[in-house]
Amino acid sequence: MKLTLFILFPLLTISVFVFLILYDQEAQSQLRHELSKSQKETIANLGDLQGDFETIQSFRDNNELMKSIHVLFRAQCASCHAPLGTGQLAPNLCDDSYLLVKNIPDLYTVISEGSIKKGMLPFKGILSNNELVLLAAYTANLRGSASSGKQAEGKIIAPWPE
Ligand code: HEC
Repeated sequence: MKLTLFILFPLLTISVFVFLILYDQEAQSQLRHELSKSQKETIANLGDLQGDFETIQSFRDNNELMKSIHVLFRAQCASCHAPLGTGQLAPNLCDDSYLLVKNIPDLYTVISEGSIKKGMLPFKGILSNNELVLLAAYTANLRGSASSGKQAEGKIIAPWPE
């Protein structure tokens, strides 16, 4: 009995510490607006995604991945587009008006290639291609997600196809 306690107690203490450290890392990375290791792995393991309509569309209702991409948006895009995409320096991504976008694959192109002269960075090479595809899905979902924000710029475009 004594021996079991002698072994069990340190084991339990160690497990609690390991759990707390791992849990804390996950919480810390969310706070720093960084993807956790497991989120990065999940995204990398999706294969070589294409920036076409079907692929982007297929991720739009994947809540788990969209939550991860929200972290990425906060880290990479919020400084110009605001944390919820409602626009600051850069255009509001929640309304129906766009400057450079007419359809869902255009979102992928703009995020990848940027619009350097107007101050939108090209993210190709900074983020992985899978992250760019998922950001296109995320920004497609931003449309209609807020009713207030920076004044609309550009032209009202047709609703996204179903
Ligand atoms: C340094 C500031 C800056 C950052 C960071 C930035 N953007 Fe932009 N973004 C802009 C500006 C400015 C424009 C408008 C470009 C233009 O008028 O040609 C823009 C345009 C866009 C558009 C097209 C909007 C439209 O009306 O057609 C999308 C989509 C977009 N950004 C997504 C993103 C995403 C996603 C990120 C993060 C990965 C990001 N941006 C990061 C400044 C930024």
